This record gives sequence, structure tokens and C-alpha cells, in this order.
Amino acid sequence: MQYQNAMLKEGCLKDHVFVVTGGGSGLGKAMTTYFLELGAAVVISSRNIEKLERTAKELEEKTQGTVLPVQCDVRNYDQVEQMLAKTLEKFGKVDGLLNNAAGNFISPTERLSANAFDTIIDIVLKGSKNCTLAFGKHWINQKQEKATVLNIVTTYAWTGSAYVVPSATAKAGVLAMTRSLAVEWAKYGIRTNAIAPGPFPTKGAWDRLLPGDLKEKFDMSKKVPLKRVGEHQELANLAAYLMSDYSAYINGEVITIDGGEWLQGAGQFNLLDQIPEEMWDMLEAMIRAKKRG
Ligand code: HXC
Ligand code: NAP
Repeated sequence: MQYQNAMLKEGCLKDHVFVVTGGGSGLGKAMTTYFLELGAAVVISSRNIEKLERTAKELEEKTQGTVLPVQCDVRNYDQVEQMLAKTLEKFGKVDGLLNNAAGNFISPTERLSANAFDTIIDIVLKGSKNCTLAFGKHWINQKQEKATVLNIVTTYAWTGSAYVVPSATAKAGVLAMTRSLAVEWAKYGIRTNAIAPGPFPTKGAWDRLLPGDLKEKFDMSKKVPLKRVGEHQELANLAAYLMSDYSAYINGEVITIDGGEWLQGAGQFNLLDQIPEEMWDMLEAMIRAKKRG
């Protein structure tokens, strides 16, 4: 199938420098891989430097690109400023920030300690804010002609979701920040967009959201009208497009890539999917009969 293939023109991210938070694993790693394949240099950051160094080596060998691994806890503004400084020291500039780092786990909300709730808010909302603020100030001070911020949210940023309430609360904040800055910082040439992925299996997410046999009990692909989960390359294609100049007129948008998952839950009559085809003649006759009665 075409969706498993790379989409953009070869070399289209040449001379671009991107920072990907949480770039050492999961979706951050997949997006980083594709940015490298398209010619960008990429800084990957997270808390675990050994993991980042392993990923950097693997991806440099695979793509012949340049990866700089930088340890940075996005909750800490000083560390974020140091990450930016290391990026500039190595590459002399930065063109785009991908706020991908996140923390999450399922839990009834009343079981959470105040610190557990804060931990998720701090990684997702404060972390995205810290990076966006530090990079935005830099771009504005430098009078850089153009720059891009791309935030990874979720579809429950606008629907909300039970059992992941800190994450939903934080992602909603990130979405509000996306739309607000898209307007405020457009005058500085900074575009701000978001992607809302549906289920894309990763170890980080699945271990915390579907632990043990929940993976089998709640097969995520069954919730999706297209009856499958996402392929990492599909997300990487969209992210590369939004980070590239091809999307120069897209600003303040959140693009859902979920096979129709959230709408499936939203439409009041979507459950009529369960009605067998052969029952529709009978149902139609019943409805028409009422009209005459
Ligand atoms: C209740 C919990 C808990 C759990 C931790 N805590 N796990 N409470 N149930 N399962 C509590 C702790 O007891 C502590 O509170 C507080 O949370 C902080 O825990 P720490 O372990 O000290 O935090 P830290 O080391 O900073 O780790 C952060 C983490 C961890 C979020 C808890 O899971 C992590 O590192 N996650 C990073 C990767 C990740 O989450 N990836 C998934 C993203 S998926 P007390 O009160 O005891 O001090 C995603 C997908 C969305 O976002 C949509 C999918 C479809
Ligand atoms: P993941 O592999 O667990 O990615 C999360 C990353 O964030 C890790 O690399 C982690 O690295 C980093 N991180 C966590 N806390 C951090 C901190 N305080 N400072 C810096 N980095 C930190 O999970 P994923 O599935 O790829 O998730 C990536 C993004 O996609 C997240 O924003 C998530 O909300 C979003 N998303 C995923 C799905 C899905 O189905 N997978 C669906 C919707 C949205 P360290 O542990 O080394 O710090």
C-alpha cells in the first residue's frame, strides 16, 4: 500500500535543522528518521541520554544524516535553554521545533496524587510551553525569516477522555497554545500547527495505556472505521510536510490522522454499523409505514 511509502520529494528538507523532543523512541524516532532521509539535521532530546545516543548512532548509520543527541527534561526551562544553546553551537541555527515529548498512563482520576497529575501536566503542557517559549524568543530576537512549531496532541484534546484526564487537560492546553500563537507569532514568520494522531502502536504508549492483556481486550484497530491502526511512516509523512515549506500557508491548524476514530465515537447513530445489510429492507418498510399511518 502507498501509505507505507515515503511521500515528499527527496532532499526537500536539506539545510533544515529541527529539534524533536522525545526523539529517541516511538513516534519521535519515526518522524526524526524521515526528516533525516529528506536531508534535515536533527537534534533529538529527552531525559535518557544513553537511549538518545543509541538512537542517534542507529539513525546516522541508516540515513547518513546528522543527529545530535541532547539530554533535556522539558519540565526544566534552564535545560531547555541549554538544549537550544547546544543546537545553535553545533548547527548555527534552528528552523523547526517538534514538541513530541509526553507522559501519560491510565488511571481513575480519584486514585491520582496531586503530584501524579502535575507530572503529566508538567511534561506535556509545561514542557511544550518551555520549548516553544525559548525557541520563539530566540527566533524573534534573531529576526529569523521563518520558523515552524509543530505540536503532537491527541483527538481527546477536544473531546476529553476518561481515565487519562491529566493528559487530556494538558493536550487541550497545548492545542489552545497552538491556535493562539499561530496568530500572535505569524508576524514573526513563525507558523504553529498540531497533529492529532489516533492509535499508532509504540512501546511507550502501549505499555502505559494498554498494560498486560488489555492489549488483546481492547484491540484499538476495532475502534477505527478503517479497521486498522496507524503506520509510523504515515505520521512521518504528515509531520515532514507540516515542517517543510510545502505547508507554508498552513498555520494554526490541527490535523487529525486517526482513520476516523474519534468521529466514530461522536456520531449519535454510528452504532447502526452493527445492523446487518439484510435488515435494512425491513427497517425501511417499517419507517415508511409510519409515514402513512
Ligand atoms: C498512578 C502513578 C502511576 C500510575 C506514576 N504515578 N505512575 N500514579 N498510577 N500508573 C505517580 C507516582 O507515584 C508519582 O506520584 C508521580 O506519578 C510521578 O511519578 P514518577 O515515576 O516519579 O515520574 P517520572 O519519573 O517523572 O515519570 C513520568 C511518568 C512515566 C509519566 C510517570 O510514565 C514516564 O516517564 N513516561 C514517559 C513516556 C510516556 O508516558 N509515554 C506515553 C505517551 S503516550 P507520587 O505522589 O507518588 O510522588 C500518549 C498517547 C496518547 O501520550 C493517546 C494514545 C491513543
Ligand atoms: P513514547 O515513545 O513514550 O514517547 C514519549 C517520549 O517523550 C519519550 O521519548 C520520552 O523519552 C520523552 N519524554 C518523556 N518525559 C520527558 C521529559 N520530561 N522531558 C523530555 N522528554 C520526555 O510514546 P509515543 O507513543 O511515541 O508518543 C509520542 C507522542 O505522540 C506523544 O506526544 C504522545 O502523546 C503522542 N501520541 C501518541 C499516540 C500513540 O498512539 N502512540 C497517539 C496520540 C498521541 P525519555 O523517557 O527518554 O525522557
